[in-house]
Formats: sequence, structure tokens, C-alpha cells
Amino acid sequence: MIVAVYAVKGGSGRTTIAVNLAAALGLEHRGECVLIDLSLPYNHAALVANLVPTGCLALIDQPDQDKFEDALLGIALHHPTGMVIIPSALRAEQAELVTPPLVKRALDVLEQTFNYIVVDLGVAMTDVTLGVLERANRILVMVTPELTSLKDTAELLQIFENVLKIPSARVSLVLNHPRPQTMVTRADAERQVERKFQTEIAYDGSRFDRAAVTGQVLVETDPSCAASKSVMKLAGSITKEHVGAAKRVKL
Ligand SMILES: Nc1ncnc2c1ncn2[C@@H]1O[C@H](COP(=O)(O)OP(=O)(O)OP(=O)(O)O)[C@@H](O)[C@H]1O
Ligand SMILES: [Mg+2]
Repeated sequence: MIVAVYAVKGGSGRTTIAVNLAAALGLEHRGECVLIDLSLPYNHAALVANLVPTGCLALIDQPDQDKFEDALLGIALHHPTGMVIIPSALRAEQAELVTPPLVKRALDVLEQTFNYIVVDLGVAMTDVTLGVLERANRILVMVTPELTSLKDTAELLQIFENVLKIPSARVSLVLNHPRPQTMVTRADAERQVERKFQTEIAYDGSRFDRAAVTGQVLVETDPSCAASKSVMKLAGSITKEHVGAAKRVKL
């Protein structure tokens, strides 16, 4: 199952939530969750999870399928929580090497190997981002309670529906509070985007930042704080969706 994490604005919490969500899934299903970092040109997921990349997708130039698979799984970084992280570019100038066919090939391999594939996406609507959004089984759109974020998210939902033909049932909105003050209530935000939020992630002070700086992932070190609980609930709903889909395939 592919879960894409997207937002119309930078700094909305995509990387933070993608890393914590993948870690929550990794804690529940060890070795079954991979986070592929397609937030380009700057990849931050490995850094936030305190892992040091040795390779990246951009540098895999391997026409032979078996060798491609080995190379891809060879750059995977294993985190103590049980999640695996795959960076796509180590340096900004490598971003252009991450082409839609390369990403498709990587996702094909990862779908054979992992039950849960979390994708951290960049803001720009590049062909890579569009390809992932169209293919994802679930799209988590991170929304921050600001007028600009709400207006652009409303426009994004129109594009999903009318241009990309992505069924609205595949899209979940997550209201995230990366800043303490908020002028817009949840109800106001829902009115503005004309959709309900699946979940809301509270402002959790400097917990996320402190965890990243000390090389920890919040859902593991502080599972009882409000933000961790929301992320774990999200992970639970994704597990449920995946198990439900797997049962339907068997029938
Ligand atoms: N719910 C929250 N409570 C407190 N801080 C948060 C919360 N969500 C995100 N943050 C903080 O907000 C900042 C931006 O988050 P993050 O880097 O995950 O956003 P992003 O959408 O990935 O941004 P970028 O555009 O740089 O990729 C980080 O410092 C993160 O720790
Ligand atoms: Mg990011």
C-alpha cells in the first residue's frame, strides 16, 4: 500500500509526519514499512531520523532488473523502530536524475517487498510528484490553519478531482499545527476546504524538533504525547485499510 504525504506549502510538517508515521508502522510491523524520500531537491527524512545515507535512488543506473533490486535495497537505511528509509538524492543537483520511470521502477520493487510504502513528497507538482499521487492508495494532505494553506488546498482538491481524476475517497486531510498560535478554528478550516479533516495534530511545542536533534523519533520515545497519539491513530487507520484491501483481494 502506497501512502503519499503531500502539502501545498513548505513547512507544513510533511517530513515530520511521514517519518513518525513510517516509524509507527515500523514499530507495529517490523521491516514491513519503507519511507521513500521523494521530497526534492532536498531530502530530509534520513536526517530527521538520525540516519546517514550512503547511497540514493538518483545514483542507481542499472538496466539489469535483478541488479537494480539489489542496488535499491542496498541503499535502504534500517532504523531501530523497524522502518526503512530510502533517500532519492543526496545532493540537490542529483534531483533531476530522479525521473518518473526510475521512481516507477523503484515503487514496483518496493511494492513486492514491503506492505507499507510511505512517500514524502515535495511541494512542486513535478511529473514525479504527479506520478506518485496518481498511484498512491492513500494521499495524506497536510494542511496548516492559515488562509493561504486553506485556499491552495481547496484548489488542490479541485485539481485532484477534475484534472487528475483521483477519487476523493483516496484523499485524507490532516490538519497540522506546526506553530502555537492559530487564528483559524478546525470548523473554519473545514468550511474553507469544504471537507472534513480525518485527523488533527496538535502543536506539540519543540518535541518533534528536540527528538530530531537528539536522534530520536517521537512516536517511539514519547508515545503518550498528543502528537504521537494522533500519528499512531493515523498509522492504525492505514493498517486497517491495508488489511481490509488484502482480505478483499483474497476473496
Ligand atoms: N504538530 C507539530 N508541532 C510542533 N512542531 C511541528 C509540528 N509539525 C511540524 N512541526 C515542526 O515544523 C517544522 C516543519 O516541519 P517539516 O520539516 O516536517 O515540514 P515539511 O512540510 O516537510 O517542510 P519542507 O517544505 O521543508 O519539506 C519542523 O521544525 C517540525 O519539527
Ligand atoms: Mg520536508
